[in-house]
Amino acid sequence: MSAGPVTESPLQYLEEALIQLKRDGLYRHLRRLEGEQLPRARFDGREVVNLSSNNYLGLTTHPKMREAALDAVRKLGVGSGSVRTIAGTMDLHMELERRIAAFKKTEASVVFQSGFAANAGTVSALLGKGDLILSDELNHASIIDGARLSRADIRVFPHRDVQALERLLEETKDVKRRLVITDGVFSMDGDLGALPALCGLAEEFGCIMMVDDAHASGVFGRNGRGTIDHFGMHGRVDIQVGTLSKAVGALGGYVAGSRALIEFLYHRARPFLFSTSHPPSVAASCIAAFEILEQEPERIEALWDNTRYFKKGLAESGFDTGQSETPITPVMVGEAKTAHAYSQALFENGLLATGIGFPTVPEGKARVRTIVTATHTREMLDLGLEILTRVGRGMGILGK
Ligand SMILES: Cc1ncc(COP(=O)(O)O)c(C=O)c1O
Repeated sequence: MSAGPVTESPLQYLEEALIQLKRDGLYRHLRRLEGEQLPRARFDGREVVNLSSNNYLGLTTHPKMREAALDAVRKLGVGSGSVRTIAGTMDLHMELERRIAAFKKTEASVVFQSGFAANAGTVSALLGKGDLILSDELNHASIIDGARLSRADIRVFPHRDVQALERLLEETKDVKRRLVITDGVFSMDGDLGALPALCGLAEEFGCIMMVDDAHASGVFGRNGRGTIDHFGMHGRVDIQVGTLSKAVGALGGYVAGSRALIEFLYHRARPFLFSTSHPPSVAASCIAAFEILEQEPERIEALWDNTRYFKKGLAESGFDTGQSETPITPVMVGEAKTAHAYSQALFENGLLATGIGFPTVPEGKARVRTIVTATHTREMLDLGLEILTRVGRGMGILGK
């Protein structure tokens, strides 16, 4: 005889997981931005200094970006209507790929719907069973997911540990195809990948070298060409990934490299094949962004001036800011619960800086992450420093 209908929802376990997150102080509320993404903005009804956006150069609201988008909407509508390989390749997509390749000094480039799709789609397309991926332990989640999807073996080396990578390369000499992969800038710590050394090893051991420059494009190198340009390594990195969603100010990701690499990805990268291409407005804005990078280098200078100023202020207050060398500066606090409580108290005092804890960063290394942009004024940065210090002292994060 049937036991009758089951009354408990099969999704009951989700309710329990959420209750546990709340108990642990890790439940996330999505803050609502009311208005534009600006360095001083209104979230959840409160005006705050915004140290949480990736809008490094202020391009999300640049007049030329808006104009390009509006013009494309008027001329071409709001959607591309198809994936790239069927009917969704417009002139604007091809033009954007040409621009990116010229900017990155590579033969070709391919644009994806996001930086996440670029990483995951590329790693999973290029490697397969029997191949090996050697990945820095702090690489972005999209690299980790791409590696898992590829079904290649994965060996993770400790963060920036070149000797450990060398040992792994020695041990795995009989594997035919190997990929060494690192972030150019690590998004949670703001330090740089050990590019020259990793690249040297990749060359010595005949591996493919791939760098995810999501947080470096528009920030490092001449006119924001990224860490490969910064380290003078053009021609030595086989696969460069970048995003159009951070310094470039719109949305998307890309891979730059050889013509063969790009054509292979046109045929095999699953997000390229199975997901609709960018609306024309997004492609047009991104094209405008690469023009702005060439024409307004003063934005990058302002970004670095502000970065130096803010880091100096943090150091003077006595904060532990880890190893950052970029506009991303973590304020280390230890426990995730403390990071979230600190972030909340900062917000109530007029500063948006996100608390980040396990599993995004290792246990015991929770932090409040700050990101300075070119468009912050000195007054905003001073106010941000004052709030961080006063609230930090009040909570015992800083010595009294
Ligand atoms: C290092 C890194 N790679 C890739 C991405 C993904 O980029 P996007 O936001 O364009 O998907 C991010 C951003 O979240 C990132 O920090």
